[in-house]
Amino acid sequence: MNAGMSPDMEDDFVQVSATDGAMQVETTSVEETRAFGEFLACFLCVGDFIALDGELGAGKTSLVQGLAAGLKVPAPVTSPTFTLLHLYEGGRLPLYHFDAYRLASPEELEGLGYEEYFYGDGVCVIEWGRLAEAYLPARRIRITLEQSSSADSRRITLAPYGGEEGWRRELLRCLSSYRDAAGIRRRRGKV
Ligand SMILES: Nc1ncnc2c1ncn2[C@@H]1O[C@H](COP(=O)(O)OP(=O)(O)OP(=O)(O)O)[C@@H](O)[C@H]1O
Ligand SMILES: [Mg+2]
Repeated sequence: MNAGMSPDMEDDFVQVSATDGAMQVETTSVEETRAFGEFLACFLCVGDFIALDGELGAGKTSLVQGLAAGLKVPAPVTSPTFTLLHLYEGGRLPLYHFDAYRLASPEELEGLGYEEYFYGDGVCVIEWGRLAEAYLPARRIRITLEQSSSADSRRITLAPYGGEEGWRRELLRCLSSYRDAAGIRRRRGKV
């Protein structure tokens, strides 16, 4: 059991902790990681910023694919390997997708006019956020993905950071229902 997690909030497949300002979800497939991204997208608003961290192949882009699906973005999301920024429009909100791993230095963000996207009229997500820490908005959703018990398992830790306490608490409260949604899908044999 994770620190700060009460026993009644823990189950076999999804672990949620709202007591320590963070929640954890354990996914067992790429589809499930996308499903979590899709769920999270439902609660995102204009100006929300997500910083994703985790090693190569941890599932960051997969989670962004889920976000895009949840925002009903029509274009498929690929890793922004050659372009430093992908813009996805036509969904409920524009989605701006950066990958800091591709930056020669964090200062390169300035040449991209990052403020227009980080503080813009859509949702902004950056992979390898820690590599551009100094540029990240004070109010952000931090998500870390780590491989866990098996090759296809990932522990996803989400923590709203900065901003108002009310925002942080409300977001975690909304997301805690993922536990129930995941459980229903599992029982039905679907992700
Ligand atoms: N539970 C899981 N969640 C996400 N991806 C998984 C999971 N299990 C296996 N995978 C595999 O791990 C890989 C994740 O790739 P992805 O491009 O999303 O990683 P990434 O964190 O964006 O890597 P990079 O740092 O190179 O950008 C995919 O090949 C996916 O199929
Ligand atoms: Mg990626």
